[in-house]
Amino acid sequence: MFISPEKKCLANINSSSVLLFSSLFRYKNMLLLASVLVSFSLLAQQQTIAVETKDNALVLQTDKENRLGIIYFGKRLLNSGEYTGITQQYRRDNDNKGIDNNVYTPAGTWNLLEPAIQVTHADGNKSLELLYVSSSVTKTDDNTKLTRVSLKDPVYPFEVTLFFRTWYNENVIEQWSEIKHAEKKAVVMEKYASANLYFTNTKYYLTHFHGGWATEMRPEETELTAGIKTLDTKLGARADLFQPPTFALSFNKPATEDEGAVMLGTLAWSGNYKIDFEKDVYDHLRVIAGINPYASAYTLQPNQTFTTPGFIYTYSGNGKGEASRNLHNWARKYRLLDGEGKRLTLLNNWEATYFDFDENKIVSLFKGAKNLGVDMFLLDDGWFANKYPRNDDGAGLGDWQENKKKLPSGIGYLVKEATKAGVKFGIWVEPEMVNPKSELYERHIDWVLREPQRPEHYYRNQLVLDLSNPEVQNFVYGVLDTLFTKNPELAFIKWDCNAVIFNAHSKYLENNKMPQSQLYVDYVKGLYKVLQRLRAKYPTVPMMLCSGGGGRVDYGALQYFTEFWPSDNTDALERIFIQWNYSYFYPAIATCNHVTDWSKYPLKYRTDVAMMGKLGFDIVVDQLSEKDLQFAQQAVANYKTFSDVVWHGNLYRLMSPYEDDFASLMYVNDTKSKAIVFNYLSNFRYALNASVQPVKLKGLNAKKRYSVTEINLYPGTKSAIKADQTFSGDYLMAVGVNPGVDLRHTSVILEVDEVN
Ligand code: DGJ
Repeated sequence: MFISPEKKCLANINSSSVLLFSSLFRYKNMLLLASVLVSFSLLAQQQTIAVETKDNALVLQTDKENRLGIIYFGKRLLNSGEYTGITQQYRRDNDNKGIDNNVYTPAGTWNLLEPAIQVTHADGNKSLELLYVSSSVTKTDDNTKLTRVSLKDPVYPFEVTLFFRTWYNENVIEQWSEIKHAEKKAVVMEKYASANLYFTNTKYYLTHFHGGWATEMRPEETELTAGIKTLDTKLGARADLFQPPTFALSFNKPATEDEGAVMLGTLAWSGNYKIDFEKDVYDHLRVIAGINPYASAYTLQPNQTFTTPGFIYTYSGNGKGEASRNLHNWARKYRLLDGEGKRLTLLNNWEATYFDFDENKIVSLFKGAKNLGVDMFLLDDGWFANKYPRNDDGAGLGDWQENKKKLPSGIGYLVKEATKAGVKFGIWVEPEMVNPKSELYERHIDWVLREPQRPEHYYRNQLVLDLSNPEVQNFVYGVLDTLFTKNPELAFIKWDCNAVIFNAHSKYLENNKMPQSQLYVDYVKGLYKVLQRLRAKYPTVPMMLCSGGGGRVDYGALQYFTEFWPSDNTDALERIFIQWNYSYFYPAIATCNHVTDWSKYPLKYRTDVAMMGKLGFDIVVDQLSEKDLQFAQQAVANYKTFSDVVWHGNLYRLMSPYEDDFASLMYVNDTKSKAIVFNYLSNFRYALNASVQPVKLKGLNAKKRYSVTEINLYPGTKSAIKADQTFSGDYLMAVGVNPGVDLRHTSVILEVDEVN
């Protein structure tokens, strides 16, 4: 961070001035306060704060009234001293000057735009003003810094601290705020955003995503027009499903993979969120991101601190590809649990058996897992509940005891048998939920989110437990803790969440005379408390964040999870598109892709598609033909030889399935000695011209020489790629290589190896 040196001492003058204001306020000498305010304005000298990463800068500056605005966001200047002179190039002369670019726009005084914060003070007054007090920077390590900016209301003892954590090399910023007051009674916060950004370009192109069950992450790009475009969700227990909290914002023209200025942004919050894009009268853009204020007024007691979730963003002047790699590098190193580690390949029984299994059937499937060569068997839904057995999705959720009929010898026996068969054992849970047909519901109806005076509404026949209630938090923690305590060898958890919050009413909040409007926020905070407790005791066990598909993927939850389930839709062609879109924001190591029988495509195609992330299977191995089994075994073995590059390498999207007849993407390791190129036919029409052109590779070393070999061939087939040739990186990136994708070779995986 850069603060203009001659101004540093004034930060202290300002902070003592604000302290003086609060004591003056206590004596209610408003007249004197007004006159001090005037002299304060005269005293205040301009502060310039640059929040910088390797390539970019977000620059804040105070104005004459000591309000802090955003004056620049973009490429970092070579000489940081020049930031101070940026505002002179902009003439925004109107009565809203000074508030339109505010760093955290307060409501209720003279702001006419979408606020970042809106409150009702203890005395019922609804006005808020936030003036700059001070700022500081602390260095966490050579790559990470935290900039704190303190803002205070000159009239009320109300303050906001803005935090900007920067990861220098990854060009990533996480921004959040802390809100606190020392008023006589509680303050009600109607809106409390995480971040309020301001962009001084003239044209903006927003790529956002939408969908539903099995249609997750469908992109749309739109030019933003004057007014507000909102992305939001009101699902309660999860952020996305219909609309994930992830977006790409291009400046001046739509960015491509390698060209254009673009920001990727996302909110690290697993509940309701709202991101507003407001284009103002100057064609400047305000972005306000945070918890959705919908039905969520939050009561803040004196001296209590409310911390908003982080808004994470990265900016690149070189297109979406570089921006994605920024996020991937950051996520692997700093956010995703064990992001730089390894993952378990697995065989899951969900699509193989659904609820129809018993102990013998499950044990018989272990052999299949071993035969395939995967690391683990994952037992899915249907293993629990006795009074109301979990034989379909209409009963049993909440009763986490092994079903005695299906599993008379218990989970412990299955773990032992799996170990004997030479595979690890993982298990499915959905601990935040309850079926009305369950003993839990009968015993603890007060733990269930439901409107007591109205009929219950169900989502997948179930209701959500009230995680604002500490007893429920203990229960949810206990479900997992008991499983681990009884079965210390448990190697993996699939944590599902298949309902949204309908009937948003909490008996716990009601009993404790707390406002119902805290429920949506306290639910997510309660969930995070459980996850923190679990991680304190079980720091390393891999856990999949699942939610009937892409209903729950966000960087708030991913700090506790090693991976996520992108969609229940495992049709290989559909998955190319779904995985493609997730790849803008989340690294391949976190993206669970399973080979299933959902689609009719050949096993090779389905497997090749799953290999572009974390590979798993959800098939009956015994039913594979001899050749298919041979292929699958070889594929798992191959995957183990290159998964390191997929999991930890740099992703380059080469040909888009939205623009071309086939999709092509590659991962390159850090030393540029090895790359894996995935190519998938995505248009199955006759006489398409997919196989005509070469694909230009990216991210290699132009001076190195490489061999290009097709791998993962189906038994008995031959590659169209000539063996025994080597190419320079320069050639592969300028001319390219033709993978020969066509109707007979619907997927082709190439391994590119440095040769000496
Ligand atoms: C939804 C998940 O996405 C599926 O993989 C499976 O675990 C089912 N829930 C089980 O109910």
